[in-house]
Amino acid sequence: MRTPIIAGNWKMNNTIAATKALVTELIPLVKDAKAEVVICTPYTDLATAVELTKGTNIKVGAENVHWAEKGAFTGEISADMLLELGVTYVIIGHSERRQYFGETDQTVNARVKAALAKGLKPIICVGETLEEREGGKVEEVLVRQTTEAFKDIAEDALENIVVAYEPVWAIGTGKTATAEVANDTIKIIRDTLARLYSAKSAEEKVRIQYGGSMNPKNVKELMAMPEIDGGLIGGASLKAVDFSLVVSY
Ligand code: PGA
Repeated sequence: MRTPIIAGNWKMNNTIAATKALVTELIPLVKDAKAEVVICTPYTDLATAVELTKGTNIKVGAENVHWAEKGAFTGEISADMLLELGVTYVIIGHSERRQYFGETDQTVNARVKAALAKGLKPIICVGETLEEREGGKVEEVLVRQTTEAFKDIAEDALENIVVAYEPVWAIGTGKTATAEVANDTIKIIRDTLARLYSAKSAEEKVRIQYGGSMNPKNVKELMAMPEIDGGLIGGASLKAVDFSLVVSY
């Protein structure tokens, strides 16, 4: 019912030359993918990625967007600038941005609103730290992050929003949440959306990905879970063969 979506998050990797090589290798490998395929690249690679993927089943996303339309925000990029390049998706609130760049639940919400207003599709990242999990705070943290991220977002926008559940302790660590833990935690997010909107919309409209050391070895088991609608892939998205194995799970 919900179309699976698997997105690569390249983070701060790949020059334009490396992007050309990776995308060219990727195109034939992912053409029969089971999921909707997205690659989220650094700003400087977006134009190249969009150009190379024209007419293919790969969509391109950015890794952040500013909430203002324009103005005195040195170093920032607006939704209009991304749209002009042909970008479809945008990652918002990744834990690395929350951890190193002062991203808060409020700025996440502001970015989501700006993206939606221009027709970009947000991939909103939420997830608990190890300390929060060990302290029994998973539900509290996810309910808060989800509620704040969706503040003042209309129900009819939900079909254009993807949520990525990324436990911070599983990102880039090689530690994956077990399929059961990922599924149960994603259920908390979906239940929160059901309370904020309706059970029907939460069930039918919002796709929720798992992210955190997802790779060719564990993808099948994770994707078999009823609540998991896809993945946000860091490390394994940087190698064409690995990423193609993930999207064809
Ligand atoms: P990882 O990163 O797959 O390398 O753990 C996932 C992410 O940060 O989106």
